[in-house]
Amino acid sequence: MKFPHQPRARQFLLYLLVCLAALVLPTAVMAENGPPPLLLGTAWYPEQWPESRWEQDLTLMQQAHIHFVRVGEFAWNKMEPAEGQYDFDWLERAVNLAGKHGIYVVLGTPTATPPAWLTQKYPETLRVDDTGRRDEHGNRAQYNWASPKYRELAREIAGRMAKRFGHNPYVIGWQIDNEYSQTSSDPATQKIFQDWLKQHYGTLDNMNQRWSGQYWSEWYSDWSQIPIPLHGGIDSGNPGILLSWRRFTSDTWRSYQKNQIDAIRPECDPRMFITTNTMGFFIWYDHYVPQQDLDMSAWDDYFSNGKVDPAANGAAHDLTRGFKQKNFWVMETQPGFVNWSDVNPPLAPGADRAAAWHDVAHGADAVGYWQWRSALNGQEQYHGTLVGPDGTPVPIYPEIQRTGAEFERAGAVLKDTHVESQVAILHSYESRWAIEWQPQSSKFDPIEQLISYYRPLREIAQSIDIIPATRSLSQYKLVVAPAYNLITAEEAQNLIAYVNGGGNLVLGPRSGMKDIDNALQVERQPGPLVPLLGGRVEQYYSLTQPVPAEGKLGSMTAEIWAEALSTKAPDDEVLLTYGKSNGWLDHAPAIITRKVSKGSITYVGACFDAASMKTLADWMARNAGLTTPLPNVPAGVEASQRYGANHVVTILVNFSGSEKDVPLPIPMDNVLEGGKMSTVHLVNYGVAVLDHPR
Ligand code: GAL
Repeated sequence: MKFPHQPRARQFLLYLLVCLAALVLPTAVMAENGPPPLLLGTAWYPEQWPESRWEQDLTLMQQAHIHFVRVGEFAWNKMEPAEGQYDFDWLERAVNLAGKHGIYVVLGTPTATPPAWLTQKYPETLRVDDTGRRDEHGNRAQYNWASPKYRELAREIAGRMAKRFGHNPYVIGWQIDNEYSQTSSDPATQKIFQDWLKQHYGTLDNMNQRWSGQYWSEWYSDWSQIPIPLHGGIDSGNPGILLSWRRFTSDTWRSYQKNQIDAIRPECDPRMFITTNTMGFFIWYDHYVPQQDLDMSAWDDYFSNGKVDPAANGAAHDLTRGFKQKNFWVMETQPGFVNWSDVNPPLAPGADRAAAWHDVAHGADAVGYWQWRSALNGQEQYHGTLVGPDGTPVPIYPEIQRTGAEFERAGAVLKDTHVESQVAILHSYESRWAIEWQPQSSKFDPIEQLISYYRPLREIAQSIDIIPATRSLSQYKLVVAPAYNLITAEEAQNLIAYVNGGGNLVLGPRSGMKDIDNALQVERQPGPLVPLLGGRVEQYYSLTQPVPAEGKLGSMTAEIWAEALSTKAPDDEVLLTYGKSNGWLDHAPAIITRKVSKGSITYVGACFDAASMKTLADWMARNAGLTTPLPNVPAGVEASQRYGANHVVTILVNFSGSEKDVPLPIPMDNVLEGGKMSTVHLVNYGVAVLDHPR
């Protein structure tokens, strides 16, 4: 840097001033403005690299328009190399250097990977599997989530991090741990579980009754007799104990997380969020439980088969958005390919960018790539990255760079926009567990059921919320509960109030079979909703062959599962009847509906093929008066809206496999390329972001 026409001393002074300003100004500006509204980011592991390399990495990130890094979540050993010896200096240098490059930081608490000294000294912090084998060092998530000692140590490291970084201008938020998953079956945890049961059921008598304890001598005369069900309940156990174990697991994740939140929150600026990264439809705990204590939801979005299915992936986004019913983050996604599947094909050129916009379309405000650069050693050497082992960009880098530039361009328009939906699909972990334990047909997959409704309805309504049945429902024109197997009295009350208030409720097959203890409802299906429906399920059948069905809805084909329905109320209407099949189902009602004040309740008794689901979705849309925000969108192009106070951002992503034209009802601003458009031409994986008044 040279300042012509100035004496040497003054030159030096000026130089010093400029350097100081360069250091201080971005800090002030970044802290004051906060992060951009739409962020592209990456997981960065500075602890794995010489510090001399950081500058180059951050420069390459900056050139890719990356504005956040998530760091620290596996670096406990580097932060505390020996018990009580803390070293956060390196992390602070990394965070501050990122800040100098316009890159904000999400700090991960490192509790998914305790150091070797820790588990050696406190072996009781290691999880024990069903066979009684204690986990060992060298992988991750080897800790016991219920261990009081582990919590004490986790609280200490999280609290110390927060004390050090709670006011750092570049730190915008915290990720607790990483992808909660494993439980422990050690005797100490068994005792905690027994205490939880005591608290939950009060008396053994009550618990035994509710679990039908006289079945197979499953009657307990002392709390200490109660086992932890094997394989987290996948293989065996009374449905009541299985459900209790998963509820206990979920509560324990909540308290595990709360332990760290309580250490971090008091030490931080209120502007910082606290989140954790979940895994889509991961089933081992009830995510609605720990999510209550977080500021924001975030998930890790991977396509192990190299394909983006916009319905399946969109549903996982909408599930995550539904945790807190607000915008969320995609904390991790793959640059190209993963390493943990049988075959790990890459996403096609352009598909990563399309997927990033698909994320935003569903309410993501940030997309983070895992990971920046692969560690030279370790378990994930083959995973996709942005730069190679030599530290220079790999072929996908320019695509991500383009996405980053677009995020910068579109940020202002997307600021303070959110998703609005006319339709809610109800989702319950308890229902999924209940079916997983006793599937009756191995072909019946509750998530596939959910997606079979989601796919055609999303095309019509262009947005769907996925939420549990306990939430407020009155804003929805249509509420669909596919395979809502377990309905508690509280949920039933909410659903009945929704229908009585004019809502349209559609229950899918297997709904309302179980009660709050995973016991059979004595009314048969749909349990507490039988009186409102005025009909019920007489019997259920696993199918080995497709079954034809006919009626007011036209011709449809049932598969996998079918229930013979009956109508008792005179105003029940049969919409579909089974044709000839297994003898038991022949000519029985397959779909029935009943008007209730201004609303309706419908029971769909079978799984249907894709064409039939489209027919059914069209009927549901007509019955509930759904509208299509952007009509005439060709099949395979996903249209979504994010709403601001007085404008709408429409996002189109072409997943059809070929070029498509989308006619617009009014000219709209082309956010990514400038100008106005009346027709959008999209190449395969093409994206358009359009802004127009509300
Ligand atoms: C995630 C995990 C990351 C990384 C990634 C690889 O589940 O959070 O740390 O392992 O998978 O796909």
